[in-house]
Amino acid sequence: MGKVVVLDHPLIKHKLTFIRDKNTGSKEFRELVKEVSMLMAYEVTRDLPLVEIEIETPVTRTKAQVISGKKLGIVPILRAGLGMVDGMLNLLPAAKVGHVGLYRDPKTLKPVEYYCKLPQDVEERDLIVLDPMLATGGSAVAAVDFLKRRNPNSIKLVTLIAAPEGIEAMEKAHPNIDMYVANIDEKLDEDAYIVPGLGDAGDRLFGTK
Ligand code: PRP
Ligand code: URA
Repeated sequence: MGKVVVLDHPLIKHKLTFIRDKNTGSKEFRELVKEVSMLMAYEVTRDLPLVEIEIETPVTRTKAQVISGKKLGIVPILRAGLGMVDGMLNLLPAAKVGHVGLYRDPKTLKPVEYYCKLPQDVEERDLIVLDPMLATGGSAVAAVDFLKRRNPNSIKLVTLIAAPEGIEAMEKAHPNIDMYVANIDEKLDEDAYIVPGLGDAGDRLFGTK
């Protein structure tokens, strides 16, 4: 079974509070989502393999470690996942970026796929899927389904706020996927919004409501 890692660092908790606050405007919301994503990148990459190289410091020759050429792919789920890309790329500048476009039909609450463009060498890459919200889990389950068909090396999911229902849906559909979340909230409301949540992540990021 994949693991669920809750990143409860004080900096993440602090920033998440202002992300949730309805009085936070789009500019600040975007900045905070970027900052939290950067902090999350630190933990998501904890298992990156290292190799030893030899370098010369001003004092002596020594052995030191660098990340061994692991090929990463960052895959935001459009639209709201886009808000997390820059923060991740700040720490992982060599990663390639793919995009999966899904939106949740407001009536059926089922994900509708409208776009997919991935790095050509996706089969050699470890993918980090980004979406700030894991509500019913429908979008993330569909995105991972979709990516699995392209046979990447591995897939991890990074999300800011998850509902217990979304985690359960992912565990059922994709038991081998590790999930990294900043917080697991209480529940979904009758419109499948996360409670307390942050509202509609895409609209808050892009000011569309
Ligand atoms: C939001 C969010 C997730 C999805 C989560 O996207 O960014 O992708 O809802 O809900 P689920 O777990 O119940 O599928 P939305 O459909 O609002 O599209 P948007 O990002 O384009 O606004
Ligand atoms: N999508 C969002 O953007 N927010 C929610 O609370 C649920 C789904």
